[in-house]
Amino acid sequence: MNSFLSERAKNTGRSAIREILKYTQEPEVISFAGGLPKPDTFPREGLAESAARQIRDNYQNSLQYGTTEGIEEFRQEMATWLSEFGLDLELDNIIATNSSQQAIDLVCKAFLDPGDLVFCGLPTYLGAVQAFSTFQAEKVGVPLEKDGMNMEILEKKIQESKSAGKKAKFIYVIPDFQNPAGVTLSKQKRRKIFDLAEEHDLLIIEDTPYFGVRFSGDFKKPIGTYDVSGRVITITSLSKILSSGMRLAVVAGPSELLANLVTMKQSTDLCTSTTTQLIAADWLKNNSLSEHLKELRKYYKENRDAMIEEMKRSFPEDERISWTEPNGGLFIWVTLPENVDAELVFEKGLERKVAFVPGHHFYVNDGGQNTMRLSYSLLTPERIREGINRLGEVLENVLSPVSQ
Ligand SMILES: Cc1ncc(COP(=O)(O)O)c(C=O)c1O
Repeated sequence: MNSFLSERAKNTGRSAIREILKYTQEPEVISFAGGLPKPDTFPREGLAESAARQIRDNYQNSLQYGTTEGIEEFRQEMATWLSEFGLDLELDNIIATNSSQQAIDLVCKAFLDPGDLVFCGLPTYLGAVQAFSTFQAEKVGVPLEKDGMNMEILEKKIQESKSAGKKAKFIYVIPDFQNPAGVTLSKQKRRKIFDLAEEHDLLIIEDTPYFGVRFSGDFKKPIGTYDVSGRVITITSLSKILSSGMRLAVVAGPSELLANLVTMKQSTDLCTSTTTQLIAADWLKNNSLSEHLKELRKYYKENRDAMIEEMKRSFPEDERISWTEPNGGLFIWVTLPENVDAELVFEKGLERKVAFVPGHHFYVNDGGQNTMRLSYSLLTPERIREGINRLGEVLENVLSPVSQ
């Protein structure tokens, strides 16, 4: 039956993480593998009220089709929130999508031809890589440092692509508490990425779903705030702060670029769910998002702190082991000694009933064999400590024969 498949579909692999998650479903397994937000952090009572109100009293709109750009009240509420972060948006600078994953897909659909180049982090978000593959782009990985992509390498790769006569289209960047590495792009690098995009006439796709989940460190303005020439698209999602089940996101940027996404969206799904947009708009109007975020941040910070404290206590003392200390988001990234294969640690971990995602899955080249992604989002601090303790034992065992 493969003879029916499009080149596009042949080019797209299944998400390795979804496969890994199958192994981690048993209740005894302490899993740091999934990256799901904690449902208890969502404002369910308020959302239930908004849903009842919108479905009963505003059914002519909430149960009806809407425009492809999205419901004005929702976009307006989101524009008001984003203005707190320095993004100055008129209504035609913001559209609604069914999740940021859809926004990434639409960006690819609108701007990529087969063989076009996309620059992304090493490591980077797997869902974006899948979309790049579907649209048959060539993915060019740029190693991440503690403050985001290595700028010299990014510049060199852009120049090489030009010399090779390839068509480079965009830089994909997750500026805040990156998935999977937990690092935040520094202010200087945000500026530099924008300058490089200007110099080489590239778009920037800024994907920032963890934006609202900052619990320490200084706030850094989105790259979209530097945009003087209409080349930055900023995608942000409600999945981590209001509800991932509502599948709501917004895309902010120059109206000419957004118009292309709207055209692409028409053939995808006509419009974003009006029901969820109106529920979200109602909630945002009647509640304080910043108050809600205070609680949510407290929860994730406590979990991050528990994980880092326990790593310091139970991971083997070895200067070749390091980890990121994220200022927000859901993930910590661990680097093991170069000769340690994280797949082996994963196998041994499952025997000890602890799981994580081996980091090489997030690489668009063959790198990252000695890295691991740990999520602290779903467990209690006690379970996190227990799981890290188990992982520490596994690492002791794996490391000892290697280092002898
Ligand atoms: C960097 C990044 N982009 C996009 C997404 C998808 O989010 P959404 O639920 O809005 O599709 C995720 C989800 O984890 C993510 O980590």
